[in-house]
Amino acid sequence: MKLELSRLHVSYDGSRILRDVSLTVSPGEVVCLMGRNGVGKTTTLKAVIGLVRLDQGTVRLGDQDLSGMRPEARARSGLGYVPQGRDIFPGLTVWENLRIGAVAQGRKLNGEAERVFTLFPVLKDMLQRKGGVLSGGQQQQLAIGRALLTNPKILLLDEPTEGIQPNIIDQIGETIKRLSAYGLHDDGPERAAEIGQAIQALRREGQIGILLVEQYLDFCIEVGDTFHIMDRGAVVAHGAINELSDQMVRQHLTV
Ligand SMILES: Nc1ncnc2c1ncn2[C@@H]1O[C@H](COP(=O)(O)OP(=O)(O)OP(=O)(O)O)[C@@H](O)[C@H]1O
Ligand SMILES: [Mg+2]
Repeated sequence: MKLELSRLHVSYDGSRILRDVSLTVSPGEVVCLMGRNGVGKTTTLKAVIGLVRLDQGTVRLGDQDLSGMRPEARARSGLGYVPQGRDIFPGLTVWENLRIGAVAQGRKLNGEAERVFTLFPVLKDMLQRKGGVLSGGQQQQLAIGRALLTNPKILLLDEPTEGIQPNIIDQIGETIKRLSAYGLHDDGPERAAEIGQAIQALRREGQIGILLVEQYLDFCIEVGDTFHIMDRGAVVAHGAINELSDQMVRQHLTV
């Protein structure tokens, strides 16, 4: 099912935050939503899931108009959302954390959990641990796993590599390849590599579309199919990921 954001306008306290934002995410596609801090990336995801009100515009999933629906109803229609900052429940076990999204939707988990363990094997070894004792990268995997267990058609991911040490962020793209080839162990990039590989595995399955908010350019290039760059609330450039130019990066992404 295709997700279609069409001409979204959003304000906070009377000031315009999103201006005329449009994009689509097709099944099997990874769309990177990029841009500097504060340009409106998270607000765009919140507008999709229904956590902020639209002044104008529509959000469609397949042939359904989600625009007037509550967040829970949108989730049931097929949107999975992993917020910025991995909000797992620290006092619940990994297994309880995984179940909670599906339980909230009144669904039982049967074989689906195994699929998540295939993507994130580390979770299977930690089912009885408290979520709060996992490392940052493991918590991120748990948050993505939990969203997957609600069986989404579209997954919204807000900066899944955030929190990985800044000094290694620049090298993540190259490191992903090296690590997956040689299986090296270096905590920081390995986490990014696991998340990157899982995103690519999801894409290969071809049924789920991913809207990925990400500031790390190399990570986007590694996992993305298309990009949209935002600046001050508007989409200022978009295209296939290999069309992302140095000039766009300098103008809209580099700090
Ligand atoms: N609840 C709110 N009330 C008022 N203003 C807000 C609120 N949430 C966000 N904003 C403002 O809206 C703008 C866009 O914020 P948003 O969180 O969408 O940015 P972002 O692109 O996700 O940034 P970052 O990369 O830092 O996560 C910012 O100027 C922010 O200060
Ligand atoms: Mg954000």
